[in-house]
Amino acid sequence: MKIGIIGCGHVGLVTAACFAQKGNSVFCVDNDEQRINMLRAGRMPFYEPGLEDMILTNIRNRRIVFSTRIKDAVNTCEALFISVSTPSMPSGALDLSAVEHVSREIAVNMRSYKLIVEKSTVPVRTCDKVHQTIKKYVPRGVSFDVASNPEFLREGSAIYDSMNPDRIVIGVSSKRAENILKRLYKPFKARIITTDIKSAELIKHASNSFLAMKISFINAVANVCELADANIDEVAYGIGMDNRIGHAFLKAGTGYGGSCFPKDVSGFIAIADSLGYNFGILKEVQKTNLLQRQYMVRKIESELWIVSNKTIGILGLAFKPDTDDIREAPALDVIKMLLEKGAKIKAYDPKAMENVKKVFPDITYCKNAYETADKADCVAVLTEWKEFAGMNLKKLKNIMSHPTIIDGRNIFDPAKIRKAGFTYHSVGRP
Ligand code: UDX
Repeated sequence: MKIGIIGCGHVGLVTAACFAQKGNSVFCVDNDEQRINMLRAGRMPFYEPGLEDMILTNIRNRRIVFSTRIKDAVNTCEALFISVSTPSMPSGALDLSAVEHVSREIAVNMRSYKLIVEKSTVPVRTCDKVHQTIKKYVPRGVSFDVASNPEFLREGSAIYDSMNPDRIVIGVSSKRAENILKRLYKPFKARIITTDIKSAELIKHASNSFLAMKISFINAVANVCELADANIDEVAYGIGMDNRIGHAFLKAGTGYGGSCFPKDVSGFIAIADSLGYNFGILKEVQKTNLLQRQYMVRKIESELWIVSNKTIGILGLAFKPDTDDIREAPALDVIKMLLEKGAKIKAYDPKAMENVKKVFPDITYCKNAYETADKADCVAVLTEWKEFAGMNLKKLKNIMSHPTIIDGRNIFDPAKIRKAGFTYHSVGRP
């Protein structure tokens, strides 16, 4: 099938790569000329394991082309996926102007039937607006359908998630649209859930908000564990054994970040508000998540008392491992709070340092974890990169001024690390 993907961000590029890998011809469009030139040269605009290889293979096979012109995609393709960015506005609601613009551009260029599929994360009823807009601008007599097909890929394992989805959700209002999407997704051999369009839009917001709620819940329980001298690892294991709850997303830590959960939770609160429902639970989820970052700073302070002029080594800057994405990363807030208190920050991340340099140009960036710990009064682990858990504890202890670790991701075994001579605090563990 010939497919157009409008918007070459994380969702668009991964979707394009996977559709091409399944034998489709994919026409990728982005209005950022620099990005398109980069992609044509086979360079990725962000780090995502496996993406570059898959894109390069499909460029060579002539199954992916890149362009800045929506018109060309509309001329060539039967289905057009909108995967442009929908950033949060200060109110928490999403800015949908890029979706509106793309819908108009598609409409004016349509000469025959097209299926327009909304894949960006958008509030419920956005597809209605897309439909209205296309109807207004499309040449008379040209028919079309709009569908919702939310994505559930995780950064860092986006290719795997897209090639092996738990489920594929398609929200449609016609048999023709349903058939096109089913044909496209057949090779993925996944369960396809067909719903009305508004329900599909809601599934996306509700899924991410539920997962964020699970994380804030377990972090709140971890805080109670600390006060009661109980162990969150054992509590999470015990409650996760209940099939109705499950173990996933019950890892206590410094809270969630990234481009999705914070934005989706506030987006869901905003759309619910505008429909007349006060989504109180989700407001608490947000609050709990931000407090978790403050608790990290409080833990560092409770060890060092005054942090001013002390050297704090930060291990991990990305919002999670295996990505260079620092959007809404807890580490950024923690560093900001520590700098405001006069701390000297040394930092290391295997992938995300170039991005953080743009936010904090004046902190010290290190070549590796040991250099970060060298002469530090305290080390804080804020992203659970595998290489941190495998560090040589003896070496680490010898190079630190005061061997103190605040483990915001529970990567170390408390007994082992104390035995190695460290002062150690983690999240929700005695
Ligand atoms: C998420 C959803 O998983 C995905 O389905 C959706 O399409 C996009 O948003 P992503 O943002 O890539 O994906 O990351 P994910 O792996 O889900 O983690 C999100 C955040 O939650 C990270 O900051 C992570 O550190 C945190 N997290 C996750 C926890 O703190 N504890 C957990 O148990 C799990």
